[in-house]
Amino acid sequence: MLSVKHVNKSYKKGGLFTRERQQVLSNISFDWQQGECLGIIGESGSGKSTLGQLLLGINEPDQGRILWDGKRVKDRKTRLGNISAVFQDYTSSINPFYTVEQALMEPLMLHKKMRQAHQGNIDQLLHQVGLDSSYRQKYAHELSGGEAQRVCIARAVSTEPRCIVLDEAISSLDGSVQIQILELLKNLKTMYSMGYIFITHDIRAAAYICDRVMILRNGHIVEIVNVEQLKDVQSPYARHLLQMVIT
Ligand SMILES: Nc1ncnc2c1ncn2[C@@H]1O[C@H](COP(=O)(O)OP(=O)(O)OP(=O)(O)O)[C@@H](O)[C@H]1O
Ligand SMILES: [Mg+2]
Repeated sequence: MLSVKHVNKSYKKGGLFTRERQQVLSNISFDWQQGECLGIIGESGSGKSTLGQLLLGINEPDQGRILWDGKRVKDRKTRLGNISAVFQDYTSSINPFYTVEQALMEPLMLHKKMRQAHQGNIDQLLHQVGLDSSYRQKYAHELSGGEAQRVCIARAVSTEPRCIVLDEAISSLDGSVQIQILELLKNLKTMYSMGYIFITHDIRAAAYICDRVMILRNGHIVEIVNVEQLKDVQSPYARHLLQMVIT
């Protein structure tokens, strides 16, 4: 279980001589339960990606704690095999000099145990994300957006983590590909009994895949609702998003 307790994060404001800091996250506390898909939605600049980075240990909070089963996520050992990530920018997520096979092997190489076990499983990983073995030798520039994002998802699931943080992972794909990827994520979730933290602008995608949705505004949690109650959400931003979808 992931537990976030009273997390604050600020960044230094631009300008060489200013000491002013911009508060990006304020007193963020929540728990993520094993196997759940928790959505994080909020306007641009509300702190979603910053929160994602903190959960992944890429970045550190100023105050507060982020714990995975009681251990700090900042420690690489804690994250390894437990948390992985898929980002929006799938093309730069894959090393352009790597073939798909090499890209998929990369996280497995960090995992001593996995190295041998998975040598022969690249085909299976590809198959699970809807690609055949002819993709093994392709480079990132030879893939469509949807295919590249499938490779990133295959890489994220390869170490069989308990939780994947997806930051706008489907936002730059076209509509029908988005639905395919959402379906894929749903299936993988059951197959590997893992969960997601699904960061998005898209309330419809959140409603489709999430069990609970957190609404973030100016670095504060406005509310956390079960997906069945999403239509009764109170915060003006979420209501606005909902109205755009309904009309
Ligand atoms: N490394 C950084 N240094 C300074 N300021 C930053 C940094 N990263 C983010 N910020 C600022 O923090 C605020 C929150 O950014 P963040 O990327 O978390 O928002 P977001 O909710 O993910 O937005 P979007 O929906 O546009 O992706 C923004 O005002 C941004 O300019
Ligand atoms: Mg962002």
